[in-house]
Amino acid sequence: MSTSNKTLVLLGGGAREHAMAWKLTRDGATVHVLPGNAGIPNSHPEISATDFPAIQAFCQEHGVKLVVVGPEAPLAAGVTDFFQGSDIRVFGPSRAGATLESSKVWSKDFMRRHGVATALSWQFRSDKLDEARAKATELGGQVVVKFDGLAAGKGVYVCSSVEEAHAALRDLEQQHNGWFSFLLEEKLSGPEISIIGVTDGNRVRLLAPSQDHKQLLAGDQGPNTGGMGAYCPVPFADDNILAAIRTQIVDPTLEGLQVEQFDFKGFLYFGIMLTPQGPKLLEYNVRLGDPEAEVLLPALESSLLELIEATLDGTLAQCNVWQRPGYYAGVVLASGGYPASGFPTGFPITGLADLHPSILAFHGATRHNETGELVTNGGRVLVLVGHGAELEEAVQHVYREAAKVHFQDVYIRTDIGQRPEPILGTNW
Ligand code: AMP
Ligand code: GLY
Repeated sequence: MSTSNKTLVLLGGGAREHAMAWKLTRDGATVHVLPGNAGIPNSHPEISATDFPAIQAFCQEHGVKLVVVGPEAPLAAGVTDFFQGSDIRVFGPSRAGATLESSKVWSKDFMRRHGVATALSWQFRSDKLDEARAKATELGGQVVVKFDGLAAGKGVYVCSSVEEAHAALRDLEQQHNGWFSFLLEEKLSGPEISIIGVTDGNRVRLLAPSQDHKQLLAGDQGPNTGGMGAYCPVPFADDNILAAIRTQIVDPTLEGLQVEQFDFKGFLYFGIMLTPQGPKLLEYNVRLGDPEAEVLLPALESSLLELIEATLDGTLAQCNVWQRPGYYAGVVLASGGYPASGFPTGFPITGLADLHPSILAFHGATRHNETGELVTNGGRVLVLVGHGAELEEAVQHVYREAAKVHFQDVYIRTDIGQRPEPILGTNW
């Protein structure tokens, strides 16, 4: 039993948590991951990330005083509130703070109250579908329909015609029984960028800008997924763009957290679209992105452990964030059939031992089968991350190595980190 204050519990079990555990271990912590997965050292598959009494018992048994949260579900279920007042500190917002992610309607109202740049939107309840249809028609179908709640990436419909918008509203109605709320948003256009920081609610330390690739197919086509790959930093995110994001999105958000007296200590993720009219916030997440974390944490030279402890101690102002030079590119090796449900898993994974030593391999959904073989266990199986002095070099390196890893029906999106440089509007 360890009683070191450098022993911590990390909640979650995907490739993001593998990257977090990897980084925190490099920073000098002993990390227990609940539940973790077959590729993450010190995983405890018997304990779910939302079984708070079991997590508490584990912490007591192992002398753990710090819990770091990976995914949104334990935060939305109130893990921080559960440990409030105990000697176990949680890095992640309270349930109230997690509403920034868990309710799109609430977070949109928060953005509006505090002047955060965002898309115009209209809020409806499920008994007002006719009004929503009329509004969507008035807007020529150029709308985004957003279900108000956690929907694992499946609650957002980006529409390009009146027919599509009406079909989205029909689908929403069929998917959800009883009362629900939703938003219609004006459809914006422009490249997307993920800005993620560590905040104590008063100040924020931003990590490198990164870009996700949410759609399944090259060229941003096909269905939305949890994310097929990411890279950082983003070459076109220059100082002007970052300054606009700061003043129009990040700073008003922090002011809002202070004015509304949120005790928000954790990661805060700004999903931003760079439109011709300036940066607009699409969403908050109250956690690291996945797969953004898998590139951001290798790129982070500073100690994540120190940033977390400083946040909880109220000394974040004294911390700087240093990045390693160069670029990091991460590609997801997914099961064929993902993101639809019902695809087969359990296929043996080979080739990991042949990877170049500079490649990081984070496990998302793997397990050992009855004979001890490493096999697939879900949609996003592995995330491989490569480094290069230039983005192109990082991308080429990771794709060359990814070709060495095999499992039946493996799917890899082919254009991670290769979007053409966007032409941004000049009027902001
Ligand atoms: P969200 O979960 O709100 O970030 O939405 C998921 C994805 O839908 C985003 O990453 C965008 O690609 C797209 N999206 C969301 N809101 C808008 C919008 N107002 N205009 C255009 N695309 C959007
Ligand atoms: N990569 C997007 C997300 O984690 O929500």
